[in-house]
Amino acid sequence: MKDEKGLLPAVIERILVWYRGSRRSMPWRDDPSPYHVWLSEIMLQQTRIEAAAPCYRRFLGELPTVEALAACGEEKLMKLWQGLGYYSRARNLKKAAILTVEKYGGKLPDEASELRKLPGVGAYTAGAIASIAFGKPEPAVDGNVMRVLSRLFASEEDVLDPRVRRDAEEALRAVYPAGRDAADLTQGLMELGEVICIPNGVPLCDRCPLRTLCEAEKRGAQNELPKRSPKKERRIEEKTVLILTDGRRFALQKRAETGLLAGLWELPSFPGRLTAEETGRLLSEQGIAWDGIRPAGEAVHLFTHVEWRMTGYWIRLSGLPPAGLVFPDGETLFRDYAVPSAFRRYLDFIRKEFNEYGFSPSGGKGGVDPT
Ligand code: ADE
Repeated sequence: MKDEKGLLPAVIERILVWYRGSRRSMPWRDDPSPYHVWLSEIMLQQTRIEAAAPCYRRFLGELPTVEALAACGEEKLMKLWQGLGYYSRARNLKKAAILTVEKYGGKLPDEASELRKLPGVGAYTAGAIASIAFGKPEPAVDGNVMRVLSRLFASEEDVLDPRVRRDAEEALRAVYPAGRDAADLTQGLMELGEVICIPNGVPLCDRCPLRTLCEAEKRGAQNELPKRSPKKERRIEEKTVLILTDGRRFALQKRAETGLLAGLWELPSFPGRLTAEETGRLLSEQGIAWDGIRPAGEAVHLFTHVEWRMTGYWIRLSGLPPAGLVFPDGETLFRDYAVPSAFRRYLDFIRKEFNEYGFSPSGGKGGVDPT
């Protein structure tokens, strides 16, 4: 994506004026230290601003410095990341924090090229930290910025193509300002893409500071841009989620250390979507004694490459839970275990049960009888 008409210098001027007049308040904007900017940018990569803000505050309340992050235990880290998803981001943060302590005395480097050597820090994050926290003339090109540029230039190029993105970075870098302007331009470009040149629905061109420069607006093409190559379809996985409980405690298992949701805690499950009868039979076949089963609802969860389609059951155990599983009580579960939001439907089910009946050894009500 190239600036063939030389629009960018005028664009920069207008974005700076617009951003300074209408910037939204966000917790990481009050004190944009390198650590704060880094943490917020990692959180915001796959999470909406409104969802990230409370997690950001909670995270910094527990881990206020790079040193504290470097020393944080795995379980606590996963718990602090709960609700944000894509947990490898948290693991990379910690690895990068350890490196920063060991190699740079706890201070993040100010050059994008050095920042990029840290785990989990790509061109976008390195540019965001360098420009926002250090005032370096480095762009940070995310999907928002690509959409703005694609419409501005009325470019038909595929915004998901890495080469097109690199061209956009180069075009910006050639004219990027330094100091406070760098910080404000990086955030202003993103913000324009978030609130005016929006991704879904009709862009708010009548409020856009770039309106008179925008090629898409001139051609009335803003709703057809940006162009994207079609995404690969997600693989569908069906599963039957088991809330195995004695009425007070709940069985959890740890996922494998590699792959999707690596190392996190989850409710156990059977592959496929089973009926209550099938589920009960399988449990009995596996030597798991139970005396009540009832539906806990259906749920779908989308990951980047996989879609889980789930059906769940609340199962009252009459004996011990299967070996190898942990069996915390409800309060401990919610306090100490990071269970990914893919299981939200069933965690809500547990929580509701708790609110209505309290957790007691005799809790849970019958349904299908054991066979
Ligand atoms: N999206 C990602 N980072 C952002 C920031 N610093 N400001 C606004 N939107 C963002």
